[in-house]
Amino acid sequence: MSAPCLFAPMTFGDLSLSNRIVMAPMTRRRAMHGKIPSELNALYYRQRAGAGLIISESIEVDPFSTIDVPTRPGLTNSAQESGWRLVTDAVHGAGGKIFAQLSHMGRTAHPSQLLDGRQPVGPSALAASGTIYTSTGPEPYATPRALEIPEIGTIVAEFAAAARRARSAGFDGIEIHGANGYLIDQFLRDGSNIRTDRYGGSVSNRTRLLIEIIAATQMHWPAARVGVRLSPTNTYQGMSDSDPVGNFAGIAALLDPLGLAYLHIVEPIVQSIGQPRTLKGIRDTFGGTLIVAGGYGRADAENVLASGAADLVAVGEAFIANPDLPERWRLSAGLSAADKSTFYTSGERGYTDYPPLSAVTD
Ligand SMILES: Cc1cc2nc3c(=O)[nH]c(=O)nc-3n(C[C@H](O)[C@H](O)[C@H](O)COP(=O)(O)O)c2cc1C
Repeated sequence: MSAPCLFAPMTFGDLSLSNRIVMAPMTRRRAMHGKIPSELNALYYRQRAGAGLIISESIEVDPFSTIDVPTRPGLTNSAQESGWRLVTDAVHGAGGKIFAQLSHMGRTAHPSQLLDGRQPVGPSALAASGTIYTSTGPEPYATPRALEIPEIGTIVAEFAAAARRARSAGFDGIEIHGANGYLIDQFLRDGSNIRTDRYGGSVSNRTRLLIEIIAATQMHWPAARVGVRLSPTNTYQGMSDSDPVGNFAGIAALLDPLGLAYLHIVEPIVQSIGQPRTLKGIRDTFGGTLIVAGGYGRADAENVLASGAADLVAVGEAFIANPDLPERWRLSAGLSAADKSTFYTSGERGYTDYPPLSAVTD
């Protein structure tokens, strides 16, 4: 088999990437008050600009999602947009590329994190299982209110507004967060969507919200700069589907003609017992660029590219502790371990204080 091309530049849509290693989106809860990114966030992303593509942490599109300490960033007003400009300038200054991951929490929001006494919303009045981190500690998820059809139009418009701001803030593209149990994923899977209107039931009905959001963002971005992230078998936040293989092959087929930048599939390389593999069905039905994520080390990343099952590999945790991960992989250098206790804390510790290899070996 020919050598894998993990480290070779590639053309990605109409963008040139320096390699096929993607920094996966990772929430770090270090925006400033008001969900505004700062120079600290810019430094964090600049340190990781050696990735072929960075996908930002999930960015909230819901303007009523504001109270959350330490905080996740948003992209719903000009102050947040200016904060993101610091980040995109820093990444571009270091030769990198960055997409904004746009997300709506849907049923996983906690009432204490929503303004004006708003209640969490979802496709159906079914609560996520488990607990959510709040400023007063872990709390059970609330039962959401099932969205009325006109409200769905409002959410589509919120994604479009954030997409417009992402463009003004200098991002290279956007990734629509359809994974990990957030609002779009809640619509896609039948464990959380039991609607009987045109947003529930068949695969095409459950995919309608995602497709409407993609269409709305195209007022501001060409499809070739819009990616979509899906996690067909992720059970996080109580997610389930009766037929993940068929459902996600069907979703991929619906996305195939849209000319997207990519489809980004989260599927752990070591699947939990009983979980099916969906990647092949998606590869068979989606002809565009495919990114995979889920526990990939260097050897597995090379193998998945060499097998043709994917075109790029996204890496999460290893990028936290190894800001220069592509360089370390290229040199077959050792990796630092990430400190999980600082994933979601505030400040520099566990965020911008992981040294690059050059500092470790000096
Ligand atoms: C600290 C942390 C935060 C994460 N936040 C997000 C997020 O905001 N959006 C998302 O789609 N995935 C998020 N993920 C999942 C990662 O993008 C990735 O899919 C997952 O970590 C598996 O890849 P890995 O094994 O290489 O870490 C997060 C993961 C970690 C470790």
